[in-house]
Order: sequence, then structure tokens, then C-alpha cells
Amino acid sequence: MTKIAVYPGSFDPVTYGHVHIIQRAAKIFDKVIMAVTDDNYKNTIFSLEERLNLIKACCTQKNKNIEIDVFNGLLVDYMEKTGAVAIIRGLRAVSDFEYEMQMASINKHLNRRVETVFLMSDAEYSFISSTMIKNVARLGGDISHFVPEEVAIALKEKYKEKYINKVKSNRY
Ligand code: COA
Repeated sequence: MTKIAVYPGSFDPVTYGHVHIIQRAAKIFDKVIMAVTDDNYKNTIFSLEERLNLIKACCTQKNKNIEIDVFNGLLVDYMEKTGAVAIIRGLRAVSDFEYEMQMASINKHLNRRVETVFLMSDAEYSFISSTMIKNVARLGGDISHFVPEEVAIALKEKYKEKYINKVKSNRY
């Protein structure tokens, strides 16, 4: 039986931390689906389509057993729909633990068949978050150590676009 895992998240944008986790998960499971949430509760700076394109460029093109998909609604319903048996989550630090434990417990409660598998982030990536990277990029800092080149370029473009729009709106 094909063992499928789902790696869910908002991925706004995908970072080397995410890339590393998905590549390791792909060695354990037959197929891993990077499932991008369609629920824009975080007010993402990248549209769903942009996030999917960045993931495609950084993760799925190089690995045959990594797929990409969009989900909305409950994660456990998506798991059921795809026949996946495990949710993959990366644990970066102790501070992640409480939130992740709550999420794993709720998901278990909602569907007892679903297991959550935690992978420890490498020390090199354990302090990365998409929000921090966006902040550094916004202020012109070097993010090349934290995100793939495609993402670094997209972030640069995004903030240039935002800056131009801001200047224009101040002028009129
Ligand atoms: N490396 C780098 N960064 C990582 C990381 C890693 N290994 N693991 C997590 N992160 C970062 C993310 O970039 C993100 O940073 P940000 O908040 O600055 O954007 C943060 O840690 C956690 O976000 P993410 O991994 O994207 O998950 P999320 O918490 O946004 O997504 C869902 C949570 C989508 C999985 C969850 O909300 C969900 O399941 N929603 C569906 C509704 C549902 O079923 N609810 C019931 C269960 S709670």
C-alpha cells in the first residue's frame, strides 16, 4: 500500500527550512504532498498562485515523489480525501512544541486514523520563519542563506512593487 504523507502550511514564502523538511519526509514516505492552505487568515503577501509556483520551482521539480496541492477546510478532511496517513510538521524549537501538540491533538480527536509525524529542523534552519525572512527582505537585508534563489528574487520584486505603489499613492 502506498504510504502518503501531507506537509501542510501557508508557505508565504517557502524557505530552506521547509525544503529541508519535505526532502527528508520524501525519503520516509512513498509520496508526500505539500498542501498549501487556501485560507488567507495570515494575509499572505504572495497570492496562492505565486506560492504554488515558488514551491514548484524549489521542491517538486527535483523530487518525483513530492506533489503539490491546495486545500481548504479541515486538514483531516483533506487527509481522508487523499488517503494520506500522516501529517508532517517541522519542530524548530521548544516554543513550537505547545502549538504543535495542540494541533496534533485536535487532529487526532477529529480523526483517530491520522498520525502527526514531527521532524526536528536542522540547527541551521531552526530559527527561520517566513515572517522574519519577509521582514529582513523588506528592509533590504541579505536572505540568500535562508531561501532558494527563486524566492529571494520574488521577495525583492514584491517589495519593489509595494514600494512603487506606496510612492504612487502618496503622490496622488
Ligand atoms: N522551517 C522554517 N519555517 C517553518 C518551519 C520550518 N521547518 N516550520 C514552520 N515554519 C514557520 C512557517 O514559515 C510559519 O511562519 P510564519 O508564521 O512566520 O509564516 C510558521 O512557522 C508556522 O506556519 P506554517 O508551517 O505555515 O503553518 P501554519 O501554522 O501557517 O499552518 C495549518 C497551519 C495550515 C497546517 C493549519 O492552520 C491547518 O491545518 N489549517 C486547516 C484548518 C484545520 O484543520 N484546523 C484544525 C487543526 S488546527
